[in-house]
Amino acid sequence: MKLGILNGGGDCSGLNAVTRAVVRKSEQFGYEVIGIRHGWAGLLDLDTIALTWRDVSHIINQGGTILHTTRTNPFSRKDGPELVFANVRKLGLDAIVAVGGEDTLSVAAKLVPMGLKVVGVPKTIDNDIVGTDTTFGFDSAVNVTVDAIDRIQTTGESHDRVMVVEVMGRGAGWIAAYAGIASGANLVLVPEEPLDLNEVAAFIEKRHAAGPTASIVVVGEGCILKGYPTVDTTKVDEFGHIRFGGIGDLLARELEKRVKIETRAVVLGHIVRGGPPSAYDRILATRLGVAAVKSIKEGDFGVMVCVRGNAISKVPLADILGKVKSLDKETLSVVKDFSV
Ligand code: F6P
Repeated sequence: MKLGILNGGGDCSGLNAVTRAVVRKSEQFGYEVIGIRHGWAGLLDLDTIALTWRDVSHIINQGGTILHTTRTNPFSRKDGPELVFANVRKLGLDAIVAVGGEDTLSVAAKLVPMGLKVVGVPKTIDNDIVGTDTTFGFDSAVNVTVDAIDRIQTTGESHDRVMVVEVMGRGAGWIAAYAGIASGANLVLVPEEPLDLNEVAAFIEKRHAAGPTASIVVVGEGCILKGYPTVDTTKVDEFGHIRFGGIGDLLARELEKRVKIETRAVVLGHIVRGGPPSAYDRILATRLGVAAVKSIKEGDFGVMVCVRGNAISKVPLADILGKVKSLDKETLSVVKDFSV
């Protein structure tokens, strides 16, 4: 048996841990593993690397991905899917482990009915994949975000400023909410809720009414400020996603004009996506990698391995196609309870 492994979409901490797990579990079963580089692009360009036990030594603790990644969508190219199949045959691959977020896994899901033997593994800092309780990369990103906010808090307090912290997460507020709760932020703004400058200004004015103080406002990159055009929609990836960024600066600028308190924006951006994975993410990635290889051994394809109530499970890839998991109501209500 010869397996290919690829990861697509934005990188996250834990990708190397899953690659290591897939290679090592495969070798235990006597399978050969080929690393497909740069996501689905590696199957269009035949960009691959052989992976053995030794190649994945001491990478469990490394951020990024030794396989590299892109946001390549074979379905956005003429004859892309056909080329994928031709190259899978050329490489002699019996099955593929596709590690990715909704985009990468949706490509996998669409290739299943065309005959691809694939098992998906969910990953993303955004934690927005349906069918799994969580994704590796998220815990690491939240920890880095909390560390950053702890630091922003002390400088904000020293200067009695309003500190607006923009965090990644696309249209889902998971990172904003978890990091906001864990850091004791004063206000957490998530893309799931409309953002109104009047309400934010009133909140800040009330907090600062008794005298100088600091306020930490966490804002998800996907938030849209009512009445303001924020995102540059000209930069779109092969899956049609716009490039976020800018809401933190916009909110800080407009808020300062309104409340007349010095307001600064900090954009955490890619800082929280890089660096070593947390212990939790290393373990989750390892468990999912092992589960993916076991699924292949059992001949169970067209599924995504996942975690449900801390048990490893599987869902059909078709079930996640085109869906995104928004922040749940309970977490959102905790966020509001602590917005003071
Ligand atoms: O999906 C993960 C993510 O980090 C999002 O939170 C963010 O919007 C996007 O990727 C950024 O991707 P890129 O680095 O390709 O601009």
